[in-house]
Amino acid sequence: TTTRITVDPAFVVGPVRRRTFGSFVEHLGRCVYTGIYEPGHESADEQGFRQDVLELVRELGVSTIRYPGGNFVSGFRWEDSVGPVEQRPRRLDLAWHSTEPNTFGLDEFMSWCGKADVEPMMAINLGTRGLEEALDILEYCNVPSGTKLSEERISNGAVEPHRIRMWCLGNEMDGPWQVGHKSAEEYGREAAKVARAMRMVDSNLELVACGSSNSEMPTFGEWERVVLSEAYDEVDLISAHVYYFEENGDLGSFLASAVNMDNFIDGVVATADSVRTAQKKDKRINISFDEWNVWYQKRVESKVPEGDDWPVAPRLLEDLYNVADAVVVGNLLISLLRHTDRVHAASLAQLVNVIAPIMTEPGGPAWKQTTFHPFALTSRYARGNVLTIPVQTGSYHTEKYGEVPLVDAVATHDEEAGEVALFLVNRSIAESAPVEVDLKAAGVTSVLEAVELSNPDDHEWHATQEDSTSVAPKELTGVELADGHLSAALPPMSWAMIRLG
Ligand code: AHR
Repeated sequence: TTTRITVDPAFVVGPVRRRTFGSFVEHLGRCVYTGIYEPGHESADEQGFRQDVLELVRELGVSTIRYPGGNFVSGFRWEDSVGPVEQRPRRLDLAWHSTEPNTFGLDEFMSWCGKADVEPMMAINLGTRGLEEALDILEYCNVPSGTKLSEERISNGAVEPHRIRMWCLGNEMDGPWQVGHKSAEEYGREAAKVARAMRMVDSNLELVACGSSNSEMPTFGEWERVVLSEAYDEVDLISAHVYYFEENGDLGSFLASAVNMDNFIDGVVATADSVRTAQKKDKRINISFDEWNVWYQKRVESKVPEGDDWPVAPRLLEDLYNVADAVVVGNLLISLLRHTDRVHAASLAQLVNVIAPIMTEPGGPAWKQTTFHPFALTSRYARGNVLTIPVQTGSYHTEKYGEVPLVDAVATHDEEAGEVALFLVNRSIAESAPVEVDLKAAGVTSVLEAVELSNPDDHEWHATQEDSTSVAPKELTGVELADGHLSAALPPMSWAMIRLG
């Protein structure tokens, strides 16, 4: 069956938001140490920041970076991470059974954000800590001067306030694994109280309440309802987290992961809007999808140390991503964009080494995983407005999600430049997918670029430090545009981008 798509710039979902292209740096494994930070590395600058990694971060096109966790934040004592490095204590990190040396901390992170040209998104500890410490870290970061903690920041070398706008009120507090895990009522009340007080210090904040850790949580839905019932007025966004992986050889379901993400988003939106109705509010709560990715959680790479072994920066969660994983990542971005009316921020978890598009070797090179490509290209070329586009396509049966569409797609329209970008996936494992696109209403006359990522010979191919380039986006051949009508064929199990102008 031929897939038929109509692109009409009149049908706008909402703007492409730069914050959709956020990522995440947690003190976990080698994300920070020997990831973004490695003093002594040949590419390190005077602060120990790896320039090779910074270059790739810029090429990836990430907008916001969530920090410092993740599960790590639920035991984090922020004050240990600032001040003279030689005086900073080493601490146990209970989340990842590791030792945190605190040689890279809050102020280093803020300098790194400046160099990477990204916006920080700070998470506060609502696991082992509460209101007072939340106010302390906010005073340290955002108050210009004249108080104990703002002056401490200044004497630590950060003269200007950090003025961090986005704050996560804890992390995954619905998860029993979380240090300081809470019930929805306990957390909702705590989040409301903390948010209210934080806004007294700084009225310019955007605050994210914890939603569910994934849509399979037994409390999913009810958690959001209770938390928002307690904290509706006080917060702006509710978080969503999800990780997908191919399980028991069920590639068909895995390739349809975005179907699950679509449903997850719709469920959170419906729940938030039902609280809005019940509480008779005008304001809408939007979603911060601040952890999403492919993560093979059952693999040995994800095993944390045990017993008396509390290493510094062990190799943890260093998943290697194959071509199918990259197709899924590209498709998840399509899902996030399609929901740009309600998904106002998102973070690919994570940035370097830990379930990441960028890998490094200590003392060695930095290189791109397969998942780097769809993210970088979507971030660079999704511009202007996201359009709602009807996609008439075939379907196939999956174990997990029943009947699902074969082809999925989203389009963006940059009115000023007169350009349209189409992002597509073909989920068929073996068949290529012919696609016909009606672009008459868009007024485009030429194909600016057409690329695809696939490897029909071996979809399990993954990059290594020795070979990270032999499977990369290549030209999508056979794309034709005449009289506002485009035809193309998507290779089996592929992600593609077609730009028109
Ligand atoms: O990103 C890895 C972990 O996944 C994070 O620390 C946690 O928030 C989530 O469960």
